[in-house]
Amino acid sequence: MSNSTEENNQTGGVVPPPQVPPRGLWENCLWAMWRTPLGLIGVATTTISIVLMMIGLALDMLGLVDNPYFAALSYMILPGFMIMGLLIIPFACYVHSRHWFKDSLGAELTDKALCIDLSNARHRKYMVGFLALSVINIAILTIIGYEGYHFTDSPYFCGKLCHQVMAPEYTAYLRSPHAKVRCVECHIGPGVSWFVKAKISGLRQVAAVMTDDFSRPIPSPVEHLRPARDTCEQCHWPEKFHGKRVKTFYSFSNRNQEEPSVQEIALHIGGRNPTTDDFEGIHWHVSNNVKVEYLPLNKKRTAIGTVKVTQPDGLTEEFTIDSADVEGEGAGEELEWRTMDCIDCHNRPTHVNDRLVEWVDFGLLSNKIDRSLPGIREDGIAVLDKDYLSRDEAKEQLIKTLVELQAERHGAAYTRENEQKIVAAGQFLLEGYMNNVWPAMKIDWGTYKQHLGHQDADEGYGCWRCHNDEHQTKTGKVIPQDCDLCHDEPE
Ligand code: HEC
Ligand code: HEC
Ligand code: HEC
Ligand code: HEC
Ligand code: HEC
Repeated sequence: MSNSTEENNQTGGVVPPPQVPPRGLWENCLWAMWRTPLGLIGVATTTISIVLMMIGLALDMLGLVDNPYFAALSYMILPGFMIMGLLIIPFACYVHSRHWFKDSLGAELTDKALCIDLSNARHRKYMVGFLALSVINIAILTIIGYEGYHFTDSPYFCGKLCHQVMAPEYTAYLRSPHAKVRCVECHIGPGVSWFVKAKISGLRQVAAVMTDDFSRPIPSPVEHLRPARDTCEQCHWPEKFHGKRVKTFYSFSNRNQEEPSVQEIALHIGGRNPTTDDFEGIHWHVSNNVKVEYLPLNKKRTAIGTVKVTQPDGLTEEFTIDSADVEGEGAGEELEWRTMDCIDCHNRPTHVNDRLVEWVDFGLLSNKIDRSLPGIREDGIAVLDKDYLSRDEAKEQLIKTLVELQAERHGAAYTRENEQKIVAAGQFLLEGYMNNVWPAMKIDWGTYKQHLGHQDADEGYGCWRCHNDEHQTKTGKVIPQDCDLCHDEPE
């Protein structure tokens, strides 16, 4: 205030009035920041957000708190409040200066615009203060933005934040060969435009979860997934696969749960043949010079109408089937052509669900389920197949039900004697249930199926959607189902 007193003395030589001297426009703005309710709200919101964000950042970096909601608060919600506070402050000043102009005191000074006068020491002081605060604010937002970016790209964010909704995918993912691959690597892939697209659709999904407006089970998003060639091929090159891969399948039956029947096949993985340079075998479909497109007859793509193959020299061949011969829901919808890529076969590369019977058979094979308990396979299948209202109910009842079924079969004495073995089997079965079934999301055994082989061919899954000897060209050439096209007996 000493400055303005001096000025008054110089200009008028008159003793200033005893009241407080009129505030200049700048002073008035600063005053508004501290003394008006709106200004105070702005300052308080900014300061509190910054302090909490810093605490959150520190706790997260030190690994002291491991909670996705906490991270979401620090990296997404608080920065929003901080920015809101920073916007409220100038707004409060603006509103207040409007009053000031209307004020009689101000009226004399209306010709004074809000200008920065660097020759004025106070202006310089405020400028420096303002710049310093801005640098600090920008630094804070940059650090938080960077951490927030990594946070929203982490499987932890995708899988845990929308706890109930993403739990099935997250659980399967953690058990898969891709457990170390981040969700975004397949669901978004590299590049800015997909990043932006994903964040926008992410916002929509958050809104959908908050308003409980989403489908259960979540449909598989093939049409929204980025073409697999841009994602999978970051890590896997079809040029690199070749040769055969022997795979062994073990299965039991209720009549014979002691000895597995064994089926060995050598899959013609194919890819680029190093001697001829041609693509062959199973990965022929994704070679760089051949294009395989198809027109599905339903949204799930479990029924396929026409298949078009374009050779490197531009020659095309179309294999069609009379759509009346194809069963499947939603047939007759307008659907788009799709170029075949990795996901048309590897549709569950990471969200790997088990088949119910295979889980039981795996238990027998690995001795997690004792083969010497008569009827345990049949009873195991029965308890897994049962409808439980919730996962908690399954936890309570599944093992108990298994013990009861065994007691019905063998009597109480036998069951008491073998209770430990039966309970151990039950625990293994329950683990399978917990990995695969989510009643709240309407996900049961078999809700999501694989296209990789032909185990679920009856329901329209797998290779035999096309390889069924029924899709024909005009000349009568078919997409073959010969058993030794895709695999043969290992040597
Ligand atoms: C290796 C690639 C890959 C990774 C990693 C991956 N996904 Fe997926 N995801 C897919 C593919 C492919 C589909 C389409 C499945 C289909 O068509 O059957 C899919 C489908 C989904 C679906 C739709 C529902 C369903 O089960 O089909 C959700 C939800 C999902 N993913 C969430 C996630 C989350 C959360 C993560 C990380 C924890 C993740 N994904 C990691 C490839 C991936
Ligand atoms: C960020 C790298 C990365 C991406 C992207 C990726 N994968 Fe993988 N993939 C891996 C790794 C690592 C493994 C594990 C290899 C191992 O365990 O030997 C793997 C394993 C596999 C396997 C073999 C699984 C098995 O049972 O042996 C298949 C099939 C596969 N990936 C398909 C895909 C498909 C399809 C996509 C795209 C949807 C994809 N991958 C995307 C890194 C990736
Ligand atoms: C026509 C269906 C089909 C397409 C398209 C396809 N694959 Fe495969 N792929 C298979 C089958 C079948 C196997 C063997 C599966 C098994 O071992 O159970 C396989 C195996 C693999 C393996 C394991 C290889 C090994 O030697 O064990 C990888 C990795 C893989 N595929 C990645 C890809 C990628 C990446 C793409 C897309 C560029 C792709 N696949 C496209 C059917 C396909
Ligand atoms: C969308 C339709 C479609 C699906 C699904 C499909 N294929 Fe094919 N496949 C074709 C067509 C078309 C050809 C070429 C037929 C011809 O020209 O003789 C072919 C050819 C092949 C060949 C011979 C390639 C060569 O060496 O020339 C193999 C092996 C094969 N497919 C395996 C598979 C396997 C395994 C699956 C499932 C994992 C599968 N296909 C799924 C359409 C499909
Ligand atoms: C278009 C390719 C293709 C054709 C044609 C084909 N298969 Fe397969 N088959 C596969 C693939 C891929 C797998 C591996 C599935 C997996 O890895 O889970 C498989 C797995 C199997 C298995 C072991 C899994 C199971 O279901 O028990 C048997 C048995 C089998 N095939 C038998 C046959 C017979 C018999 C024929 C002839 C009628 C045939 N396949 C034709 C692709 C084919």
